[in-house]
Amino acid sequence: MNKNKRVLVIGSGGREHALAWTLARSPRVERVYVAPGNGGTEWAANPGAQGLQPRAACENVPLAVDDFAGLLAFARHFYIDLTVVGPEIPLAAGIVDAFQAAGLAIWGPSQAAAQLEGSKSFAKDFMRRQELPTADYGVFEDYETACRFVENFGAAVVVKADGLTAGKGVIVCDSVDEAKKALHQMLIERIFGDAGRRVVIEARLSGCEVSVLAFSDGKTVIPMPAARDHKRIYDGDAGPNTGGMGAYTPTPDVDPALIAEVQRTILQPAVDGMAAEGMPYIGVLYAGLMLTEIGPQLLEFNCRFGDPETQVILPLLETDFYTICEACLSGTLDQMAVHWRSEACATVVLASPGYPRSYPTGLAIRGLECCADLTDLIVFSAGTTRQGSDLFTAGGRVMAVTAVGADLSAALRQAYAGVEKVVFDGMHYRRDIGGDFRAGGAN
Ligand code: AMP
Ligand code: GLY
Repeated sequence: MNKNKRVLVIGSGGREHALAWTLARSPRVERVYVAPGNGGTEWAANPGAQGLQPRAACENVPLAVDDFAGLLAFARHFYIDLTVVGPEIPLAAGIVDAFQAAGLAIWGPSQAAAQLEGSKSFAKDFMRRQELPTADYGVFEDYETACRFVENFGAAVVVKADGLTAGKGVIVCDSVDEAKKALHQMLIERIFGDAGRRVVIEARLSGCEVSVLAFSDGKTVIPMPAARDHKRIYDGDAGPNTGGMGAYTPTPDVDPALIAEVQRTILQPAVDGMAAEGMPYIGVLYAGLMLTEIGPQLLEFNCRFGDPETQVILPLLETDFYTICEACLSGTLDQMAVHWRSEACATVVLASPGYPRSYPTGLAIRGLECCADLTDLIVFSAGTTRQGSDLFTAGGRVMAVTAVGADLSAALRQAYAGVEKVVFDGMHYRRDIGGDFRAGGAN
């Protein structure tokens, strides 16, 4: 087996740090590049790496995720064996198609398949065609017609912008008036621009949310351990939504039987349906689920790894990630067994003061060197930038302090021990990641 693979990861968040770190631990990978990367995605090779340390070197490449020509030229000139795409925007814009047209190996769904995330109306119509369990809905472009639908719906609704909105385009409504206001904002005021030119209105569901991600080669689906994200900014799920303030896996309320049900009723029929409709789905399929009284219901599909779910799922992956990607591309996932550590993993996101609204950047980050004393701890960088040996904040979600432990409470204890070592002015984080499943109760 060739051990000299060169990999390019596209993106700049904590998810991409986790992807680069995982690939740099592969016995088959010699070098990892991240475009554009962040302050944490550069390190030297470490042939004697132990425990959670990466072995292969990693280096940033100053190319934006939408600079397809630059990325293609880089992949060609640096003999990249595999490109792995982190965020949805380049996927929805067709980066996979562009690389494939140039004869380069890239892991992720095509532009057509990425519509499962890129257009909520496409996804809902697909769910209906394939009879996947999901809330009743309607799709509208006209404000008056949409208002009449809400008036006659007879149940609480959720209003969703059709296009990509970085997770901000969903308004959960308590009343008909609130729904009409959301419709006005999206269809008339265009607060989400063209992404809100069309909306999905769907029945409001209640229950616990969970993310089930799966590897797919277009035919075979292999689910990963279920993960739970914490989207709100404050403890107790208060305040505005964020990109995600922490996560953990596995989720004690999702047993193997439930994962099998999700695979049978959602993931496999979705991948079969995409293949049957001429858009084979290759890469990671992310199912955002609500666990309701009538079973798991699909809230959304994403066409990529979740952030911060990736930061807790990948540290538990025992099987070589590079080989899994290769099997997805060659359609041989059915011949692979994917193994996971039987431990738990938790991550706590450190956010800038003011996030998710406006926040300062350039704040000095201190204390990371103290984390080196804690085994089973990994600090994934997100909104950071490096100047020499100093690290500064450069985004809203600054880093994800991640730990593996024998069980969830051990992982959480270790992650919070790491959090206490890091400091920057106004640093904010949630103290209740793991919620009810934390030893001694939440908060
Ligand atoms: P989505 O981007 O579609 O996952 O929606 C973002 C968030 O909105 C989800 O994580 C849920 O918290 C909430 N949400 C979406 N759809 C529904 C629904 N049908 N009922 C209740 N909450 C929902
Ligand atoms: N953590 C939610 C997402 O990545 O969409």
